[in-house]
Amino acid sequence: MTINIEEMATFCRKKGFVFPNSEIYGGLSGFFDFGPLGVEVNNKIKQTWWKRFVQDRDDIVGIDGSIVSSQKIWQASGHVDSFSDVLIECKKCHSRQRADHLLEEQHNLNVEGKSLDYFNAIVKEKGLKCPKCQSEEFGECSQFNLMFKTFVGPKEDEESVAYLRGETAQIIFTNFKNVLDTTRVKLPFGIAQIGKAFRNEISPREFLFRVREFEQMEIEFFTHPGKADDCPYIKDFLKVEMNVFTAENQENNQEQQKMSVADLLKLNINKWQAYWLVQEYLWFTEDLGINPENLRVREHTKDELAFYAKACFDLDYNFPMGWKEIYGNADRGKFDLTQHQEHSGKKMEYFDEETQEKVVPVVASEPSQGVERAFLSLMFDSYHDDKERGNVVLKLPPKVSPFFCVVLPLVKNKENITQKAKEVYQQIKTCYSCYYDQAASVGRRYARADEIGVNYCITVDFDTLEDDCVTIRDRDSTKQERIKISELNNKLFSLYFS
Ligand code: GAP
Repeated sequence: MTINIEEMATFCRKKGFVFPNSEIYGGLSGFFDFGPLGVEVNNKIKQTWWKRFVQDRDDIVGIDGSIVSSQKIWQASGHVDSFSDVLIECKKCHSRQRADHLLEEQHNLNVEGKSLDYFNAIVKEKGLKCPKCQSEEFGECSQFNLMFKTFVGPKEDEESVAYLRGETAQIIFTNFKNVLDTTRVKLPFGIAQIGKAFRNEISPREFLFRVREFEQMEIEFFTHPGKADDCPYIKDFLKVEMNVFTAENQENNQEQQKMSVADLLKLNINKWQAYWLVQEYLWFTEDLGINPENLRVREHTKDELAFYAKACFDLDYNFPMGWKEIYGNADRGKFDLTQHQEHSGKKMEYFDEETQEKVVPVVASEPSQGVERAFLSLMFDSYHDDKERGNVVLKLPPKVSPFFCVVLPLVKNKENITQKAKEVYQQIKTCYSCYYDQAASVGRRYARADEIGVNYCITVDFDTLEDDCVTIRDRDSTKQERIKISELNNKLFSLYFS
């Protein structure tokens, strides 16, 4: 890894991956727009995820819920009352910060899950410096709710309050019965959703890492309450090894370690949760091509465990600013369906044919992935500053690169060459994401393609007119191979899947 987070933001902006939102009006903190290349990568990240976890499976179905929803959902889920971070305000410049972030940065303290009283006491004891004006005088800590509130319809009163969803998960829970009644799903099964979520973060930071509008890819995996450990597939993954940072390691200031899934099961984790943790890990390493050494599983310590969760494990990525969560997986137990059953008065029961009983299923595992954090880890993992070539090479795998190939006529001023190149382009563009580029020298065009992660450059030259062959250049090795145009589509097919 060669660049820091600010340099990555600059790279993404310059190349057309990500732009600051409202930029021409000075920007809006915590909001970003994906540009022509970023939208391609993002769409492909989501496609690979949906294919692996929904389309290729028989036990998951998808939904696509509304962004704005009734305040009653968020009252029942606990978000209205307690989805908050601890805020602290500088008395001098009045800038507002997340108290836990300042304590971590200035005193290396992990204070996740601690009470407001604890925050006030520790700030008094350790002292803090305002990152904006360096003052050491702060007001009392307070809770700041992260939900975005809006009003639906022409009146702005208590009745018309609604919320932009703070997580996609709740729209899955509130549709649980609809899915049960309209499909033939049987426990254990999951409901998946990809969509926008909104959090009014106190201090959005680190480019796409902490933003106020982002996308989540979530699964709620439901089982019979007594069967969270009945996962028939886990035996096939027992030997998979991952870096694991256990709660015990963290509490005793120990290093993370390599651990097999068989050993992971000795921690406080049910078998379905361990299974889904590995599935998401394999999506990162196999579909996104992330180096396993840059990933680790981190177990939540008792203090930071959300009140509704029995166990929680994150996947962290080794960013230039340190190991940071990119994915979370909670055993949410019976909390959500029970809350919605109580608040709505509607039964959330499932009739178990085997035991002939009605049960409220539990969420044995909730794999929850942010698209922006997947994008960011992918960009860092692929970024190589190739000194020999004199340009950046973005080593994105074919499944998630913005373009799989580009067609280049060797020269732009010979019509028979450009005509042939356009024919080749037409031949392959219906099957592969591809563009046509005739501007600048071929070396410059190779460099341009490397920098945005194009996997293969296909060049039409003078010999093509004689032998009907083109040259395929591999982005990573720069090796070139000559191939008949009639065999090009098959060749690209094998390269895409190799
Ligand atoms: N339904 C569970 C849930 O929402 P979470 O840990 O709050 O859990 C899950 O969020 C994932 O969503 C995170 O691992 C991260 O990838 C993404 N995420 C959460 N807050 C984010 C933010 N402010 N900016 C970008 N991504 C965020």
